[in-house]
Amino acid sequence: KTCLLIGAPMDSGKRRDGCLMGPDAYRTAGLARALRDLGLKVVDDGNLTPASHSPDDASGRLHRPQETIAWTYRLIREAEQAMARGLPIFLGGDHAISLGTVPGVAAHAASKGRPQFVLWLDAHSDFHTAETTTSGNLHGTPLAYATGRKGFPGFPKVTAPVPEENICIIGLRSVDPAERAMLQDSGIHYHDMREIDETGIATPLSAFLSRVEAADGALHVSLDVDFLDPSIAPAVGTTVPGGATIREGHLAMELICDSGRMTSMDMVELNPFLDERGRTAQAMVDLAASALGRRVFDRPTRSYI
Ligand code: ARG
Ligand code: MN
Ligand code: MN
Ligand code: MN
Repeated sequence: KTCLLIGAPMDSGKRRDGCLMGPDAYRTAGLARALRDLGLKVVDDGNLTPASHSPDDASGRLHRPQETIAWTYRLIREAEQAMARGLPIFLGGDHAISLGTVPGVAAHAASKGRPQFVLWLDAHSDFHTAETTTSGNLHGTPLAYATGRKGFPGFPKVTAPVPEENICIIGLRSVDPAERAMLQDSGIHYHDMREIDETGIATPLSAFLSRVEAADGALHVSLDVDFLDPSIAPAVGTTVPGGATIREGHLAMELICDSGRMTSMDMVELNPFLDERGRTAQAMVDLAASALGRRVFDRPTRSYI
């Protein structure tokens, strides 16, 4: 198996800058080395740039829509092409990279006649459309876009919308009213932190992975730093207290690995400018290693400082 590291230093999905440093922080934290130590072949494709676009001004309701649309065009194409070469790990960048990565990998799956599934590990549902968002931050919209919802003028047409029933969100604890209403009458499977506290993370995740397996599906995992509790992952602009522990994070990744279904992955929202001695970048790298085969006894025994 060849892992492709694809840097997407996209920072236009929200107002606080710094996610553009994410790809290099993952490299500095040793992502390629960690995966090679598992016996995997790793190719680092370097960093992408957005397609050419007209400049954004500060007048609109949306934050930097032109730049975000330009990244979306670039990432859809790159993601679809990467799927033919290996298992892409998209290094964000903020979560707006998934406006491109998810439709791109789903287009590839459709061309192979394979159903696409998406696991969204996040404090937020990111289920706004460009019309319902109150913040104007497009990192809060990729799941609505990838499912083919209306309300994304100027964006490329999504050729292979991901069926709502094929999506599972775990980690929720910050959902806006418009998103909640749309989620409730969607077919998306969603699990908030209260449910995780009551049942453990393995219950909803194993049920979802069984459905992926039964359908012989391709699985895209989108890991937002804020899925984790801010005490272990402070380097994100949208921290929400009460997140997943390092144990829940690793268990989720190990179950994903055991399922053997993961075909692509996003690592998003890391803002290295907000990190403390690299510990958030390190935790994310260790989680990626677990998703790709590192076993519990082989985890590094470092403290995340
Ligand atoms: N729902 C909020 C908004 O639309 C927060 C979104 C946070 N998204 C994220 N990818 N961190 O602004
Ligand atoms: Mn910004
Ligand atoms: Mn997110
Ligand atoms: Mn989030």
